[in-house]
Amino acid sequence: MDHAVPAGRISIIAPTFNESGNVIPFIERTKAALRDADWEIIFVDDNSADGTAQKVFDYVVDDPRVRIITRLQDRGLARSSIQGMLSAKGDLLCVMDVDGQHDPEVVKEMVDRLQQGDFHIVSAARKLGDERQADALSPLRNTLSKVGNWLSSFVLGRRLVDPLTGFFIIRRETFLNVAPRLGDPGFKLLLDILYSHRELRHAEVPFDFGARLSGESKLDSYVIWKFVTFLLSKMTRGVLPASLISFLFVGGSGLFIHLAVLYTALALSVPFIAAQTVATLVAATSNFLLNNLLTFQDRRLRGWNKFWGYVKFLLVSSVGIIANVSAATIAYERLVHVVFLATLAGIAIDTVWKFVIASRFIWK
Ligand code: GDD
Ligand code: MN
Repeated sequence: MDHAVPAGRISIIAPTFNESGNVIPFIERTKAALRDADWEIIFVDDNSADGTAQKVFDYVVDDPRVRIITRLQDRGLARSSIQGMLSAKGDLLCVMDVDGQHDPEVVKEMVDRLQQGDFHIVSAARKLGDERQADALSPLRNTLSKVGNWLSSFVLGRRLVDPLTGFFIIRRETFLNVAPRLGDPGFKLLLDILYSHRELRHAEVPFDFGARLSGESKLDSYVIWKFVTFLLSKMTRGVLPASLISFLFVGGSGLFIHLAVLYTALALSVPFIAAQTVATLVAATSNFLLNNLLTFQDRRLRGWNKFWGYVKFLLVSSVGIIANVSAATIAYERLVHVVFLATLAGIAIDTVWKFVIASRFIWK
């Protein structure tokens, strides 16, 4: 099928993190696909250590149509894409992966669809059921995608072939409208955009999801966690922010650890107050590490900062720990004499205190 050259300027937003082997083929393929259309490419690089930005720069130093935005402090696909889109000059903004999995030839089809159907946004949908396509994703990824699809459609209240795709095109004015409402959905920017404004006219164009050219996927357990807490937050209609949900889950795991240590210590005839202290410390340590990894990963502490953050976490939360231990001890000795309930009372006080500290003083 032959596609008309898109009217108006189209901005390709290309977020990158360690893609030095992929950026030049990406520029060449995109140039060839968009030929004489009025286009620009904006790379948004999270200060990749492998020299991705320099590779782009060396290659296109004389071509004003290709630009690079480098972000020093932050990491994240959705936030990079948002920053790129805010800096773009095009009437149409197209977000896509640079690793070869998104074929720039599909862009013209998406533009045609958008213009002919007068849509606000058009996304390119992977054919997940397709046998050949299953190869591009591992079996685990394939299953995760299907579960994610289902949950996303549920949250959105409408059925999409591929709500999780990272390949879409949106009108600039539409994007500027929804941008202030966007959160930080990790990888799933399309979903957040569609969620933020239910009346957007949206269509999907099927495409063949390719294989990654070089390097590896950045989709890790943190990205998945981010997505899960994002969906849960949307299910509470945003009443509980994703970070609080994550914090509560971590707290829940801490409770589990706390009880395990406590019962073990008591079984070894450690006095109640000592057992309670040790259990509280172990759980606090585990909570610190998990929150650093999951809840506050974008502000993650490393090396000595992590050590001092931990010391600070223990020091500042020692008030909470003391409150926890004394509340639990008092409750145990004076009130219930049920280890489980006494512990719960202590932890309830402690949790509130810790969340305040965590978001104000440790991961500020
Ligand atoms: N700036 C920036 N910062 N870019 C990033 C980051 C980041 O933290 N993480 C990933 N990227 C870039 C990659 O460099 C690549 O260009 C693109 O985002 C996609 O990353 P991949 O690591 O290749 O993701 P994927 O192939 O596992 O996932 C793709 O498919 C998913 C559906 O299965 C993406 O398109 C997802 O958005 C999509 O949901
Ligand atoms: Mn990829």
